[in-house]
Amino acid sequence: MDRRDFLLNACRTCAALALLPAAASLEGCAPSAKAMAVKDGIIDVPLDALGASGSTVISASGLSEKLFISKRADGSYSALELKCPHKGGPVKEKEGQLVCSWHGSTFGRDGALVKGPSKAGLKSYPVEASGAMLRVRVA
Ligand code: FES
Repeated sequence: MDRRDFLLNACRTCAALALLPAAASLEGCAPSAKAMAVKDGIIDVPLDALGASGSTVISASGLSEKLFISKRADGSYSALELKCPHKGGPVKEKEGQLVCSWHGSTFGRDGALVKGPSKAGLKSYPVEASGAMLRVRVA
């Protein structure tokens, strides 16, 4: 390896290392919601969107809040609005529970209130399994 090749390789390595923190921080971002469409008041969610965790977060045009879709222990499904009933803060999944980012209200994966200050659980929408799809009725 001559001097020119050595410097060229060194520059490439430095450039790759400089990009590493940016790539790592992007991986650290919360998973983005899957975008769906509302048609006749129904959102069709493919069952395989739930993945191994048995849950997913979706957004839909015409729907102001994201929905947490999950499979219950009894095999049925739930769709919960990720908006805190306390003062409207965003709710996110954290260590198996749903937690409001603003004041810490905590909800179970079924939407039931675990810890306030909220006095109510999360709003839920009816979900019907139909073949390989879940049909979430939002209107
Ligand atoms: S808005 Fe969620 S706890 Fe206050």
